[in-house]
Amino acid sequence: MKGLILSGGSGTRLRPLTYTSAKQLIPVANKPVLFYGIEHLVEAGVTEIGIVVGDTAAEIEAAVDDGSRWGAHITYIRQDAPRGLAHAVKISRSFLGDEPFIMYLGDNILRDGVKDFVDAFDAGGANAQILAATVPEPQRFGVIELDGDRVVRVVEKPADPPSDLALVGVYLFDHHVFEAIETLVPSARGELEITEAIQRLIDDGRTVHWQEVRGWWKDTGHLDDLLEANRVVLRTLERRIDGEVDDATRIDGEVVIEAGTTVTASVIRGPAVIGRNCRLENAYIGPYTSLADGVRVVAAELEHCIVLHEARIEGLEGRINASLIGRQAHIFATGAKPRAHRLMVGDGCRVGIGE
Ligand code: TTP
Repeated sequence: MKGLILSGGSGTRLRPLTYTSAKQLIPVANKPVLFYGIEHLVEAGVTEIGIVVGDTAAEIEAAVDDGSRWGAHITYIRQDAPRGLAHAVKISRSFLGDEPFIMYLGDNILRDGVKDFVDAFDAGGANAQILAATVPEPQRFGVIELDGDRVVRVVEKPADPPSDLALVGVYLFDHHVFEAIETLVPSARGELEITEAIQRLIDDGRTVHWQEVRGWWKDTGHLDDLLEANRVVLRTLERRIDGEVDDATRIDGEVVIEAGTTVTASVIRGPAVIGRNCRLENAYIGPYTSLADGVRVVAAELEHCIVLHEARIEGLEGRINASLIGRQAHIFATGAKPRAHRLMVGDGCRVGIGE
């Protein structure tokens, strides 16, 4: 079986970070989201993997390379614009050939991986197999409608959902999906929809199985979901301190501090992961926080945050909570009068000020 990871797209929901970089490379517990997907495929025995890339191709190729570090062989497939999930499959036809394949959305994380689903598809003789999970807001997702245990309908973001079973971003197909995609026309949002391709398979009498994802699953394309993914993965952390920590610092719980980092007069309460070459001074780092390499936190407090490479946070009175802070961002106290928030905020940013 081959693998197809979709890592193009426009990532509008994570702007402005996605203006300059790929959302699939945003780290969860200091590991890019995309790497979880590659690991899951390899663990399921899928090592021949195509990655669909768009505008952020160069960055993704630089991070993933040829895949040999996971024992995989990666082929990059260029999509000229985000024309939909089914379009990504269509342009991957020559890579996929007539072999069955697993399609994995590059911004999804499944706690338990995909091995069970791959094994079930291998054994089940279906033309397609979709995964679904019970969610509180099905109207945000593709939703499946069942008759007994049979999938009869798949609808994209329905205003009036026929069930609370949302499609999870992992699909298995045989070559019949290519014929189904050939019949599609762009939807109202201008995309070739994978849900319509699945509906076509159902209407043509192909066998479409479904399986429930019981373990935790997240589509990290949205800030709150990304923070939740970070929280869940950090819960599995085990303490390891390779950096330098002075006697005036207190570290509670499961905390990882990578080499080259110095911590002075601070409190770190896990689970939290601090990357390489960070400097923490008179800082409080609370639970569920991931700091990437080269981050500096001086006289400031953070919790439940993801902070990207080389960001600096200095001299703040209030605590920063539930936030995503971009690479080389600088948040600091001006100390100037009048006491005021002084901002240079990029396009499409969101700044929540809780006074
Ligand atoms: P989505 O999150 O559905 O779409 P998006 O990336 O455009 O994000 P937003 O809704 O915030 O604008 O995409 C799911 C995954 O599939 C994600 O990893 C991007 C990828 N993708 C492609 O590779 N090609 C495409 O044409 C589309 C629509 C998505």
